[in-house]
Amino acid sequence: MAYEYVLLEKDGCLAIITINRPKALNALNADVLRDLQAAVRAAHDDPEVAVLIITGAGEKAFVAGADIAFMQDMSPQEARPWTRMGQAIFAEIENLDKPVIAAVNGFALGGGCELAMACDIRVASEKARFGQPEVNLGIIPGFGGTQRLPRLVGKGMAKRLIFSGDMIDAATAERIGLADMVVPVDELMAKTKELAMSIAAKGPTAIKLAKAAINRGLELDLAAGVDYEAEVFALCFATADQKEGMKAFLEKRKPEFTGK
Ligand code: CAA
Repeated sequence: MAYEYVLLEKDGCLAIITINRPKALNALNADVLRDLQAAVRAAHDDPEVAVLIITGAGEKAFVAGADIAFMQDMSPQEARPWTRMGQAIFAEIENLDKPVIAAVNGFALGGGCELAMACDIRVASEKARFGQPEVNLGIIPGFGGTQRLPRLVGKGMAKRLIFSGDMIDAATAERIGLADMVVPVDELMAKTKELAMSIAAKGPTAIKLAKAAINRGLELDLAAGVDYEAEVFALCFATADQKEGMKAFLEKRKPEFTGK
């Protein structure tokens, strides 16, 4: 299916979703968000797809934020469903039962940084820039930034970034735990696909369950988190992939996972 503001391509078992509004640095309005959601759902529902990659079109931006022109005249009654819409779509990405990698090719600001944070892993090009500049506009982050940023980088650093609106480079983002890998500009997609392929080679059920255990566990206290881990660990032993993975190891061969 074709979307107006998003490209969805497949490369074997990878789905590459490109936010495609480069003239506005891929800023997110309601149409862009709807297209993003539809593309994410299509990739999720495609049984051939093991890993999703989200990136931005053009040389400059991953996503430069929510669309400021679109928001300018909003009333509080309009701003509430708007923030809820963005939050819901990003939560869907965060909880998707397939891994999602952000390939951050340029500015990841405001809603763009929040989109990257909703992904499981952030691979940044050396020229990527991250920030939550909303206070410059008299607002606060509204697509999960006040919640996901402190969970990723800690309370003090999140406050530093959100209160100042400062933009940080890729190396700084990696140092504070906002970017998970930094790669040369012209290697961004190749390195991201390499990582995605290494994940795709594993049993999809184990990846799905590991993602659930990490995401759910972070919302629980440690004791409840390890309880949850124990349940999910036990569940792995109900899968054919566990039998195959352990058998293959002992037979000194590569496993052939089926996702069952
Ligand atoms: N919304 C709407 N349009 C945007 C945009 C945004 N977030 N970011 C960039 N654009 C548009 C610009 O208006 C400009 O359009 P025109 O060519 O029609 O004038 C075009 O994209 C190119 O941008 P610039 O000319 O500004 O490019 P630059 O290289 O000089 O600067 C930039 C790049 C530093 C990223 C700058 O564009 C910028 O600061 N953008 C806004 C970043 C921002 O504040 N993001 C947060 C938005 S609020 C938010 O996201 C709330 C939330 O949490 C939900």
